[in-house]
Amino acid sequence: MVPTFTTRRLLLQPLGMADAPEIQLQFPHWQIVRHLDEVVPWPYPQNGAAFFCQQVALPAMQQGVAFHWSIRLHQASAPLIGVISLTLTGESHRGFWIGLPWQGLGYVTEACEPVTAYWFDDLQQPVLRITKSAGNVASRRVSLRQGMRVVRTFTRRFVGGPEPAGLWELTRHE
Ligand SMILES: CC(C)(COP(=O)(O)OP(=O)(O)OC[C@H]1O[C@@H](n2cnc3c(N)ncnc32)[C@H](O)[C@@H]1OP(=O)(O)O)[C@@H](O)C(=O)NCCC(=O)NCCS
Repeated sequence: MVPTFTTRRLLLQPLGMADAPEIQLQFPHWQIVRHLDEVVPWPYPQNGAAFFCQQVALPAMQQGVAFHWSIRLHQASAPLIGVISLTLTGESHRGFWIGLPWQGLGYVTEACEPVTAYWFDDLQQPVLRITKSAGNVASRRVSLRQGMRVVRTFTRRFVGGPEPAGLWELTRHE
């Protein structure tokens, strides 16, 4: 059972099939995808969000190996403004994106609080690791603000091509 979180300005709800049309609207923009893992298809297909929800996110949530939340403001019938995710497999445990009109307003920093607490307190994970492009300034700022640090650097293929990257880490103790 994936919980719903409420923060000062945001409502984080477990992702569902009904979110696919809004994801399809907000997600496929170059500024959003360019620093994401190359597994994201680009150009983004017309059924990209429906495929992601139905074939990737929801089965993983049912298996208990990943957790995805839609991000909305509190207002009634507010649109989906982004998605934040945790995954127990691989070496990138937390991912997020915010739609272009809502970037730079501190929303992801705010969404990371309950989601990171869920990782350590509820899922009882010893360490949170995330691979980031060195050029992803906004994402790096979010991690720095949370006290994360780079433990390894390498080159990784992102949607925008190969880039210098870092493995960011935050331990349970930290
Ligand atoms: C990364 C991302 C989710 C940040 O979301 P956001 O809600 O705009 O982030 P916040 O408003 O909480 O800002 C976090 C910090 O980044 C800074 N920032 C935001 N947008 C920025 C930009 N375009 N350039 C430089 N800094 C930026 C903010 O000023 C803030 O810095 P501060 O902590 O010093 O105040 C958003 O830019 C995004 O969706 N990017 C595309 C997807 C992506 O790259 N996801 C992460 C993959 S690792």
